[in-house]
Amino acid sequence: MSISYLNGSWQPIDEAKVSVLDRGFLFGDGVYEVVPVYGKNPFTLSRHLVRLNNSLDEIRLVNPLSTDQWTQLITEAIDRGGESNAALYLQITRGAGSKRDFVYPEVVQPTIFLMVSPAPALDRQNVVPHKMITLQDYRWSMGHIKTVSLIAAGLLKNEAISKGANDAILVRDGVITESTSSNVFIVVDGTLVTAPKSNLLLHGITRDVIIELARQNGLVVDERTFTPEELGKADEVFVSSSTQESWPVGSVNGKVIGNGQGGIVWQEIDRLFQEFKKTQP
Ligand code: PDD
Repeated sequence: MSISYLNGSWQPIDEAKVSVLDRGFLFGDGVYEVVPVYGKNPFTLSRHLVRLNNSLDEIRLVNPLSTDQWTQLITEAIDRGGESNAALYLQITRGAGSKRDFVYPEVVQPTIFLMVSPAPALDRQNVVPHKMITLQDYRWSMGHIKTVSLIAAGLLKNEAISKGANDAILVRDGVITESTSSNVFIVVDGTLVTAPKSNLLLHGITRDVIIELARQNGLVVDERTFTPEELGKADEVFVSSSTQESWPVGSVNGKVIGNGQGGIVWQEIDRLFQEFKKTQP
């Protein structure tokens, strides 16, 4: 079952309604998080709540709930959803004003929305690697804010799909930033390379966990810019996100990467990640 919470009330997702004056609807004026739920536990929740707070700070919206209140609400949402493995989505917008106005309302009543949807564990025995193409990253320059204004990401992903790929890897000023809803890693001579944190990409939590696990286990990780040329020549390429964990890329712009399957470094990262999941409360 998919359950949702909206401003204090619980209902099935398709029954939740917001005002047409909500600034999330009119301006995309809001931020969100997607938290994976494994065995009814929200994975790396504290990191998601820190990033949520950063996003809210950046859009100058006061966090309406304390960390304890978020934790309680999320725990209740997972309980009510009843799924063991799920994706928890939460969104806060600047709420509704009395009219459509670029100026923020004097008194802001934020809209708080959560939904929990079933997300069965990904089949890691039969991994079908992604086909990617590179596209120009024309999104705004505040990519570290997890905003609900996702029109560019949607356009880019759908352009990739219309060209026969699964998704796009984005290039800005000659270097790779990330994918439309995931971070990108390449493997060069055994070293993991991923773009450094900046305002041009989301600071992915899965990315952080992968980097930490890799370093703790003796793998070398280089957070540096890399070019589309390096991407095309890499021994391995994979993406990371809360919904995909890590997932191999089999080809970029039609060029096969490695043997077109998940390479050995990705396999090791995936193994470490699955082990780490088991250690989380
Ligand atoms: N997307 N980069 C972008 C642009 C993203 O939208 C996401 C996540 C990531 C990976 O971040 P994390 O590891 O914290 O999930 C990177 C989520 C899953 C989404 O929008 O559905």
